[in-house]
Amino acid sequence: MQLVLATRNPHKLEEIRSIIRMNGVELLSALDFPDLPDVVEDGDTFEANAVKKAKSITDAAGLWAMADDSGLEVEALDGAPGVYSARYAGEPVDYDANNRKLLCELDGQPNRNARFRTVLALTGPDGSVRIVEGICPGRIGFEEKGDHGFGYDPLFIPDGETRTFAEMDSEKKNRISHRAHALAAASAAWFGDTNVLTMAAG
Ligand code: IMP
Repeated sequence: MQLVLATRNPHKLEEIRSIIRMNGVELLSALDFPDLPDVVEDGDTFEANAVKKAKSITDAAGLWAMADDSGLEVEALDGAPGVYSARYAGEPVDYDANNRKLLCELDGQPNRNARFRTVLALTGPDGSVRIVEGICPGRIGFEEKGDHGFGYDPLFIPDGETRTFAEMDSEKKNRISHRAHALAAASAAWFGDTNVLTMAAG
């Protein structure tokens, strides 16, 4: 059977493929379906966006599909930037501008608690929809540090660490990140002893 990963991002594909291995399941990606329309991520929640992305592939291709949606949630900002993480400082996506805006919004704010969250959705041609999430708790620093990674990495210090994600090598980040936790949860819940075909019945 075939499972389509709803992304064209080669880094995400590699990360997902390295964690999820299933006997008898061929992992495909959105790259294998060039005619699929781009999905507008206009949901109010990570869950809504992840399900929308997976479902668009299941509906178009008639296959199982898995999609992710992630972002940064800052406690003192009531969960912002959340689903708007990519475009926090407006269009086009600008990571530096997003980081400057975040530092500005938190100016004088002693509560720096934040977390990265990833939601993974799995949809099937039988109409089934499954969701897991992964969280990486941490805090927002007072200045940007490091030049690895992307997005808010120069500002985010995971719990138990003194360095930002951007000061870590990708191997270390990928062990503790929200995506790693979500993929581990998916692996255990969906692809452990069972397989997706068995799940369809349950
Ligand atoms: P996506 O859903 O994985 O594309 O993430 C949406 C946005 O959240 C990105 O454009 C980043 O701004 C932010 N983001 C998600 N994951 C990370 C991460 O691991 N590090 C830094 N920023 C991230």
